[in-house]
Amino acid sequence: MPQFPRGFYFGASTSSHQVEGGNENDWTDWERKNADQLARSAADGPFRRFWPKKVSETKPSPTERENYISGRASDHYHRFKEDFDLAKKLGHNAHRFSIEWSRIEPEEGVFAEHEIRHYREVVSELRARGMEPFVTLWHWTLPVWLAETGGWESPRTPEYFSRYAERVARALPEVTFWITVNEPEVWSSASYLTKRWPPQKQNPLRYLRVLVNLVRGHRRAYAAIKKINPSAQIGIAKHNIYFEAHENSWWNTVLKSSADWWWNRWFLNRIKDAQDFIGLNHYFYNRISGWFGKNENKKLSDMGWELFPEAIRHVLLDLKTYNKPVYITENGLADSEDKHRTWFIEETLKEILSAIGAGVDVRGYLHWSLLDNFEWDKGFWPRFGIIEVDYQTLSRNTRESAEAYRNLIEKYTRKES
Ligand code: BGC
Repeated sequence: MPQFPRGFYFGASTSSHQVEGGNENDWTDWERKNADQLARSAADGPFRRFWPKKVSETKPSPTERENYISGRASDHYHRFKEDFDLAKKLGHNAHRFSIEWSRIEPEEGVFAEHEIRHYREVVSELRARGMEPFVTLWHWTLPVWLAETGGWESPRTPEYFSRYAERVARALPEVTFWITVNEPEVWSSASYLTKRWPPQKQNPLRYLRVLVNLVRGHRRAYAAIKKINPSAQIGIAKHNIYFEAHENSWWNTVLKSSADWWWNRWFLNRIKDAQDFIGLNHYFYNRISGWFGKNENKKLSDMGWELFPEAIRHVLLDLKTYNKPVYITENGLADSEDKHRTWFIEETLKEILSAIGAGVDVRGYLHWSLLDNFEWDKGFWPRFGIIEVDYQTLSRNTRESAEAYRNLIEKYTRKES
């Protein structure tokens, strides 16, 4: 039976705004202003038809304002030790989390030492449990002062970002793996093209501007961290989709090549000489037949996303041309009843093994997510955690798929006798 290479990282991911609770940033402002409207539109929104019974009965309900306010979230800020204990029991040897910029630099140029200490503690608690930290510096939320001066639209933001990165890297010398920015293409399109996320703009020029500034921000942060810690391994978390040209018609092939170039490769090509690894976030398969999204949709998540584990192998094979190690920094599904997760993880791991067999240098798999969390404009109802969170009591309940994942980790890393 094929095995994962020695030293392969298995674990799960989270992000600060989605699990910590108690944040004050551009998103918390936006949530307060938009929660009522989001709750009203969920009542007959497009997702409703995918909800299993458990989602309709969940608390807070998707039709309540409370669902759209991150508030205390999963209270991971106070419970991280308990959560890391669970992760360790589940056989994880790595964990990805993000640092909340708005905590570290609540006002321009003012750095909060007690928050820096908090993340030092997070890192040392992971290390104490034998888990390798993968640290993200920016997972979509901005300090309010920065959002007010234009956020990533402003030419000064790359500089602010590298100053923040430098500060954090200096405080956490024992961190090897750094992820500067999370999914720049997803965030910029939802925030500057489709008007879904703050600052809800629809302007292609601004969209391109923020992407260019994100490239600059990454490159400056890369240089700043390397200066402090030359052996740091630095990359981004890149959201790549498997676009498949169905029936191989010339038109489908043109659409596929354009989507591959723009969505999957453009950002990576701009930072080729400033990344030590590729962090891959993978969720989507998009079958093109005359147009995008002509999927068969045989199995769906609670959000209506097609579950198609084979897609990850194609995405991984495409990354081979970059000749860099790949860490899968996110991959998962909203599955409140835990119906598909075990199957999904097992099939995904087999596909990764097959990509490794075909020569892709994959070195880790971090499932999204360790915990149920706040899924941005959808709020709390999508349940991505291998650990379930009861938002009334904040108690944790390990889902069966989490145990199954542990058994798979064991099975695939068994020492040959
Ligand atoms: C994001 C996460 C999000 C997940 C599921 C990724 O695009 O990085 O923050 O929760 O997808 O939608």
